Amino acid sequence: SAAEMLVGVGSSVPETYLTNHDLERLVETSDEWIVTRTGIRKRHVLGKGETLAQHGITSAKRALEMAGIAAEDVDLVLFATSSPDDVFGSACQAAIGARHAVAFDLTAACSGFVVALVTAAQYIRAGTFRTVLVVGGDALSRFVDWRDRGTCILFGDGCGAVVVTANPDSEAQGAILGMEMGSDGEGHKHLHCTYAGGGLKPLGDGPTPSSHAAYSNIYMAGQDVFKFAVRTVPAVIDGALAKANLQKDAVDWLVMHQANQRILDAAAQRLGLPADRVVSNLSQYGNTSAASIPLALDEAVRGGRIQKGDKIAMAGFGAGLTWAGAIVRW
Ligand code: ACO
Repeated sequence: SAAEMLVGVGSSVPETYLTNHDLERLVETSDEWIVTRTGIRKRHVLGKGETLAQHGITSAKRALEMAGIAAEDVDLVLFATSSPDDVFGSACQAAIGARHAVAFDLTAACSGFVVALVTAAQYIRAGTFRTVLVVGGDALSRFVDWRDRGTCILFGDGCGAVVVTANPDSEAQGAILGMEMGSDGEGHKHLHCTYAGGGLKPLGDGPTPSSHAAYSNIYMAGQDVFKFAVRTVPAVIDGALAKANLQKDAVDWLVMHQANQRILDAAAQRLGLPADRVVSNLSQYGNTSAASIPLALDEAVRGGRIQKGDKIAMAGFGAGLTWAGAIVRW
């Protein structure tokens, strides 16, 4: 059977961004509160007329370019998102020229990217597809209630993508060395997003207090989700390590969902990883949901930190509730 390998990564975020000081003008908050509670300093948000798919397309093109693979050779496009422009599906398949590809969206909130990556590997191992483009992207700025200081300070928009192909060496080990995933529907009460006006029909032209008025789209019981995350992430990584038959010290990098610096620190401590082995770009992007892991991976790879062959502990967690971790060889 075939083994998967990761051959390209790319990302894209909107140019427009909001600093914590910008948010001080929208809601009763402060730069100091946001930085100490979350670690976030700014977040990119879709501008007027901009869509999530545009960033999906750019990140896909960048990842394919790194891989040296033509779009028409892609067999499957998986778009992990909870905030599509079009709920029927995100059509970046056509726009990048992946005309032979099957394409579908996959929704698992902030766990979506890891779930999609694992899904891609299953198709390759089964021999069904050889080249899969996995995109993770969200535009929660279109859904958030910009009057709710408990959530609007957290989220940012963006996309990231990886290209996964069948390793021509049939003896090779796969890139997903071990994984652990799960869900808890009982936890839905702590975090949910009811639909109103997606990217193609936004309720306003961006983050203003009046846009999305009368809708409180994202509800989050922050402390319950925080406790869930701090408990679940180390367990998920332990589970993935056990399946990979590896010890903690085999992990070179932690590239996990960027929701809160305190959650990142807690997970790193449990893994015994020093801070310089934890990829964190949360301060610049906020919580970009399904985009956060490929966005962080792209920066670390292009910045020369993560090298070919390095072992990465990935962990996503979020609404559902859902969680997904994997030990991945870059
Ligand atoms: N500015 C100022 N004060 C605020 C703000 C704000 N932006 N937001 C809340 N507060 C206030 C609260 O009203 C509360 O005031 P009170 O004590 O008078 O009631 C106080 O600050 C403390 O609020 P808490 O919610 O207890 O603050 P906490 O330390 O828990 O931090 C946070 C909140 C940052 C949301 C944290 O709970 C967290 O990160 N949770 C996890 C979120 C997460 O990981 N989500 C991932 C999944 S997202 C997805 O799947 C879509």
